Amino acid sequence: MPDRPVISVESASKTFSGSRGSVQALDGFDLSVGESEFVSIVGPSGCGKSTLLWAMAALLPLSSGRITIHDREVAGPRRDVGMVFQESNLLPWRNLLQNIRFPFEIMGENPDDYADRIEELLALTALQGFEHHHPRELSGGMQQRASIVRALAYDPDVLLMDEPFGALDAFTRDEMNLMLLEIWEQSNKTIVFVTHQIPEAVYLSDRIYVMTPRPGRNAKVYEIDLPRPRPLSITTEPHFFEIVGEIKQNIFDSVQESTAE
Ligand SMILES: Nc1ncnc2c1ncn2[C@@H]1O[C@H](COP(=O)(O)OP(=O)(O)O)[C@@H](O)[C@H]1O
Ligand SMILES: [Mg+2]
Repeated sequence: MPDRPVISVESASKTFSGSRGSVQALDGFDLSVGESEFVSIVGPSGCGKSTLLWAMAALLPLSSGRITIHDREVAGPRRDVGMVFQESNLLPWRNLLQNIRFPFEIMGENPDDYADRIEELLALTALQGFEHHHPRELSGGMQQRASIVRALAYDPDVLLMDEPFGALDAFTRDEMNLMLLEIWEQSNKTIVFVTHQIPEAVYLSDRIYVMTPRPGRNAKVYEIDLPRPRPLSITTEPHFFEIVGEIKQNIFDSVQESTAE
């Protein structure tokens, strides 16, 4: 656990209330992420992972609990926090560069001031030469890379990623994971990555928080001791399978327990 966390989630609880009753999505979840750490949150579908991430990005309020980033409680959108969603959310009528420039326009800033940085990110994500293509002309992987560039263009310290590669095929996902690690290693970002794919979490992370089935509570935290940098070939080694197997078993057991209750 980090001594001085950049991100601190204390006892996060969330109940959605609506005309069809109420759903408790999170129950007292704790999370602590240190500077430049890569932390993943895994758990079964519907356990509250997106709810937690959205609360960390101040896109929805918690029912109780507290989230601070850089010692400041999250209250609204912030420049030091970037978010990448499962869908790339690119505007279809804008080309790739116009999409990347869009958040600056919304914030009333001149995107030209960030042109060098955007160009660097386009190179890093192998999107140079595609600036004037429209989203429909790009593959799913390229669209998702563009959404990562868009999130990083402000140079946020913290990057929140909600199943960003969930819709991609396995080969593209591997490529994206490798690229993400390269970006992370070069930029020292603090990353919180949500996924339900355990091998993906093991490959990427320093630490993995396992969430229980809904309502999301802390089940277990795993430190991933695989050396870095991590080539893709590490995912075929016995130690990698061992870690994946242990985490899978843990989730399987907790699902069994909760259905037995
Ligand atoms: N806006 C909402 N209104 C009502 N229920 C919601 C809302 N958002 C999420 N939920 C419910 O909260 C639970 C957790 O959802 P979510 O955080 O999206 O899970 P996960 O991302 O882990 O799949 C689910 O049962 C979901 O249906
Ligand atoms: Mg989700």
